[in-house]
Amino acid sequence: MIVGSIKENVTLEKRISVTPESAKNIIGLGLRLCVEKGYALHLGIHDDEFKKVGVEIKNSSSEVIDTSNLITRVNCPSENQINILKENTILIGMLNPSQNQNEISKIINKKIKPFSLELLPRITRAQSMDVLSSQSNLAGYRAVVDCVAEFEKAVPMMMTAAGTVPAAKVLVIGAGVAGLQAIATAKRLGAIVSATDVRAASKEQVESLGGKFLTVEQSEDMETEGGYAKEVSSDYKKKQAEMMKEALKKSDIVICTALIPGKPAPRILTEDLVKLMRPGSIVYDLAAEQGGNSAFSEPGKINTVDGIKIIGVKSLMNSLPLTASNLYAKNLFSFIRNLYSKEKRDFNINLEDEIIEKSLIKEV
Ligand code: NAI
Repeated sequence: MIVGSIKENVTLEKRISVTPESAKNIIGLGLRLCVEKGYALHLGIHDDEFKKVGVEIKNSSSEVIDTSNLITRVNCPSENQINILKENTILIGMLNPSQNQNEISKIINKKIKPFSLELLPRITRAQSMDVLSSQSNLAGYRAVVDCVAEFEKAVPMMMTAAGTVPAAKVLVIGAGVAGLQAIATAKRLGAIVSATDVRAASKEQVESLGGKFLTVEQSEDMETEGGYAKEVSSDYKKKQAEMMKEALKKSDIVICTALIPGKPAPRILTEDLVKLMRPGSIVYDLAAEQGGNSAFSEPGKINTVDGIKIIGVKSLMNSLPLTASNLYAKNLFSFIRNLYSKEKRDFNINLEDEIIEKSLIKEV
């Protein structure tokens, strides 16, 4: 059985789905692996590094597609690439089926088997494959780094002969994977950190990282059985806005990471709430591409309103493509290891395995 990987559109996506390290592991399973020439040159990884671990280098993406039984990707392939994919090929990537309906229906009509890693169940056995966690964790870290670069003051408290520099105050809205890493990173830099979330369980996690948890008083826990957030009522929204007013007035940096799976981003910071912040402060909206947690945020732009910078994030993983690729490729290797049967020397699409069943897209 042969695994192949074709290039992404590197102007939009700098991550790769196979690294020399993950290639070695895939080949270790007893599979052959090929990539197209210059596959990861944009990251400074030469074809020789792949060859050294046994990867075959092909002259073009069509040669890779022709040779392979399974194709790995970061994003959904382009229409042109789909046109040349062969029937029965297995395709694995972050295919984003809700955004790429046309492409996915073409893929299904061509009898290709598409696995989308965002659909993996969040169960213990799938943890090593969990691309949402591996990438969001990095997003939380990078959010703080970007804010600090944009912030025109120092972050940690410093006591100097010339006077005391106060520590910056960071507020994190949404304490999931990205939010918790943002809290940890901001703490490491010496900021005073507070955070809020609709799930009561997140209080303990925020506090264990040294953050202060801001509770919306007299409100019910908004956690679903699966551990995700529910959509909040308008009454909750009012109470949350009231609770955050004082915190916003004092915050230097606000990092928005609130997400409800399968829904547009919850709008938490209205125009009035943003305008409570002081000039020179920053709102960083990780959810900008899903509609935004904050007013004034636009993907890929920094908008300044009353001296407050609102940063709308776009393609954040392109800021740290090497780390993001290493983690993504490891997630993908774990998925392939679960899909491949060494005894049968074949990929085994066993729909009784929850991991395989949930991640296979059967219809659009
Ligand atoms: P997550 O599901 O782990 O965390 C989201 C948190 O928001 C949950 O703890 C949830 O309870 C909380 N939440 C939901 N509604 C809320 C509300 N009204 N008020 C307060 N908290 C609320 O999600 P994850 O993986 O941390 O992702 C966070 C955001 O970052 C998402 O919008 C995601 O799309 C984005 N992201 C963006 C990336 C990029 O490259 N642009 C990369 C990774 C993540």
